[in-house]
Amino acid sequence: MTVTAIIGGTGLTRLEGIEITGSERIATPFGEPSSELLQGRLHGGEVIFLARHGNPHRTPPHRINYRANIWALRAAGATEVIAVAAVGGITDAMSPGRVVIPDQLVDYTHSRAGTFFEDDLAEVVHIDFTEPYTADLRQRLLAAADRAKVAAVDGGTYGTTQGPRLETAAEIRRMERDGCDLVGMTGMPEAALARELSLPYACCAVVANWGAGKSEGEITMAEIELHLGRGMTDVAQLLRAFLKG
Ligand code: HPA
Repeated sequence: MTVTAIIGGTGLTRLEGIEITGSERIATPFGEPSSELLQGRLHGGEVIFLARHGNPHRTPPHRINYRANIWALRAAGATEVIAVAAVGGITDAMSPGRVVIPDQLVDYTHSRAGTFFEDDLAEVVHIDFTEPYTADLRQRLLAAADRAKVAAVDGGTYGTTQGPRLETAAEIRRMERDGCDLVGMTGMPEAALARELSLPYACCAVVANWGAGKSEGEITMAEIELHLGRGMTDVAQLLRAFLKG
């Protein structure tokens, strides 16, 4: 049976319409996840929802226990993970309000517990991460976007920064030279941890603002909230089509 875990980021702390059949606080060998796991049915699909920043939304990106989150989702029976994330846009196609299904990432984070393969190993493990997002899950998300008539962008490189501050204009210029199209703070180590547990994982990113220096003036929370609201309506439609199958 397919059980789709949905990790909700900023702008998605609740799943509208979920019929909740259970909620669990799962203790893991790595500590507590960000919030309880909500199990239920949504649009005919079995889902588990986890609010990445907690509910209420108060765990900043660098303090999230990514290992506990991914471990708990698998322990609860998730067979795949859709990571919803608010991001900034860097390249032209990534305009605010857009939904993007990235296909690559660059990791600029530091000091985050980023692997399950650390202690008590029989041997050293190096996972393949050439394609950080699961190709088949990405294609299913893109097909769902089509059915839902959501103009999602197919592909893009998600650069994950440490946060919680936003970037400088020079940092965004450097990220663009590095090939990044999007900037966010939660893409890693989440994606790598899912791969370590062989959990199919893809990201559904919503562009909340232009990255620093890509528009006039400062980035405001009001701007972020405005575009996130619009983008999350599209994400809800996309998820509906995805879960209906
Ligand atoms: N930078 C990093 N993370 C973000 C941004 C941004 O501009 N917008 C939303 N999440």
